[in-house]
Formats: sequence, structure tokens, C-alpha cells
Amino acid sequence: MKKNRLPIIVGAFISVALIVSIFIVFNYKNNQGSDASDELQPTTEPTKKDSPAKEEPTITTENPVKPEQQPDENGYLPNQTLPTEPTYIKGILLANKIYPLPSTFAPGENPEARQALDKMLAEAKQQGFDLVAFSGYRSFDYQTTLYNNYVNRDGQAAADRYSARPGYSEHQTGLAFDIGERGKDNLWLTEEFGETPAGQWLLTHAQDYGFILRFPKDKEGITGYMYESWHYRYVGLDIAKEIKKQNITLEEYLGVK
Ligand code: DAL
Ligand code: ZN
Repeated sequence: MKKNRLPIIVGAFISVALIVSIFIVFNYKNNQGSDASDELQPTTEPTKKDSPAKEEPTITTENPVKPEQQPDENGYLPNQTLPTEPTYIKGILLANKIYPLPSTFAPGENPEARQALDKMLAEAKQQGFDLVAFSGYRSFDYQTTLYNNYVNRDGQAAADRYSARPGYSEHQTGLAFDIGERGKDNLWLTEEFGETPAGQWLLTHAQDYGFILRFPKDKEGITGYMYESWHYRYVGLDIAKEIKKQNITLEEYLGVK
């Protein structure tokens, strides 16, 4: 009996050893595979992370309601009330006399616009132009005070040509800046600024930083406002360059005029 059992025990031992070895080798190879594919992940991830963080608007109004009524002599629709949502067309936030903002819309200064502005001002300075943004984000309440002061000073019809009623100002979007030359406050908010070398530099280069001159000369019938050599609006690089190339206004680009 003892003689017959030995080969069986040895055979069983070898079989178990073989199975265990196969299992170990198989597991090792599998783990190597998954490690390798895990390592691939970081090489693909950064391209995503490197692209600038774009905040997608939560509301996209691709086809805004076209007003049935005609604007009055000041460019506003009769009996217009402020909406509950802002208007986005082609991903662009629009604020003008026909498409106002909710009174509660208070996004603060847009960080992407601020970054582009800082870059633009730094490069202007390197080229000898000391530009400063003397007005940026304005709350609904601040615009109310500002507009009322202008109306008291110049009357409503005159004020409506250069100052937006509360809820209608692009400054409430956090994407617009009034720019002038530091130390030349006497030229701030004047057409003349646009004729200065600093104003000309801005006009020529703004699109390379994503900005457009929002209220150009001779476009009051389209934008609703007199020429403002100082008011620049951030729309992003591609759109700013396109608007500049076509020499059109934001209203024309968005197809609302
Ligand atoms: N000056 C521009 C039109 C504004 O008040 O928003
Ligand atoms: Zn402005």
C-alpha cells in the first residue's frame, strides 16, 4: 500500500505546484497590463486640463423672441419689462436696449474678461501706452444711480444716447470696461480719446485680446448708443477677430439687427 501511494502524492504535489505557478504568472501579466493603461491616462488628461476653463452659460437663448413692437424715439420698446433670464445668442450674453437683463442678474466681474484685460493693458504699457479701466462691472443698483444722475443733468432723451437704463447696461454683465489713459482723466469718456495714439492702439489691437469697440462711430441706429471711444466689450478671441474683420457691430454679428 505504502509503495503505491508515493507516486500519487508526488503527482498531486506537482499538479498543485503547476496550477499555483500558472495562476501567479497569469495574475502578474494581468496586473502589468492594467498598470500600463493607468499610466496612459495622465498623458491624455492634461490636454483637457490645459484648455482654458470656459464657463458655459447655463441658459442658451439661441432664438430670442423678436419684438413685435417698434422701439420708441429713445430706442426702447414701449412698456418693456425686465426678463427673468438673460439672453444668450451663439453663446454670447447680449445686453442692449431691446434685450435687457434681469434686475437680479449680478455675476460680478467676469474673470476671463479681467485676465484678457490685464494682458491687454500690460502689453499696451510695454508699447508706451498707460491705459486704465476706470469703470467695469456695475450692479443694477449702481447703474440706477448713474443713469438717474445723467437724466437729472442732461434730460432723459440726451442721457439715453450714452447711458443705459438700469437692466440694459452691458456693464451689468461684467464683460465691459471703460478704458482711458492714466493721468489724462480730462479725455476719459470723450470722443477725443479715440483720436489719441493710446486710443488708436486700443482700437487696432483690442480684438487680439478678445475685445471689441462696442459702440462704434455712425452705428447709433444699430447699437442704440452714440460713439463711445472708451467702451470695450469682451467677446472672446475668435468672435472679436471676426467682428473686427467684418467691421460690424455685435448686434449685426448676432443677427438681431
Ligand atoms: N454707456 C453705456 C451705454 C452704458 O451705460 O452701459
Ligand atoms: Zn461703458
